[in-house]
Amino acid sequence: MTQPTLFVCALCKFPAAETGDTTGGQHLINQLASQLEDGTVNLQSVRCMAACDRACNAALSAPGKLTFIFNDLAPHQAAPDLAEFCRQYAAAGMGKVPYGLRSPAIKQATAYVLPPLVTEAVEGAIAR
Ligand code: FES
Repeated sequence: MTQPTLFVCALCKFPAAETGDTTGGQHLINQLASQLEDGTVNLQSVRCMAACDRACNAALSAPGKLTFIFNDLAPHQAAPDLAEFCRQYAAAGMGKVPYGLRSPAIKQATAYVLPPLVTEAVEGAIAR
């Protein structure tokens, strides 16, 4: 199975009450990089996910798995919960992490869950 990818917007700002020496998104990426050194996911920085008013934003996806879209992630606090969710997602069939196993922060930050893309291989399996 292909390694999941966690996309995180590097340009997202800190919430109004928080500050840092970089953007909120870059701070979150830096925190995640140290917590995902085990190679569970491919951590990919992106430049704007078109949800700037819901910063920080991230998405977790893999071929044949659900796609999770997160927003309102707290740059100073979200990394441990997001890293743990990445490990749960990598281990779960189709990325279906049982709702009861998700942390409160992940439940709150989950904006959308999208079904896996239907690939030609999946279409072939369905047709048989
Ligand atoms: S700056 Fe992060 S979504 Fe636009």
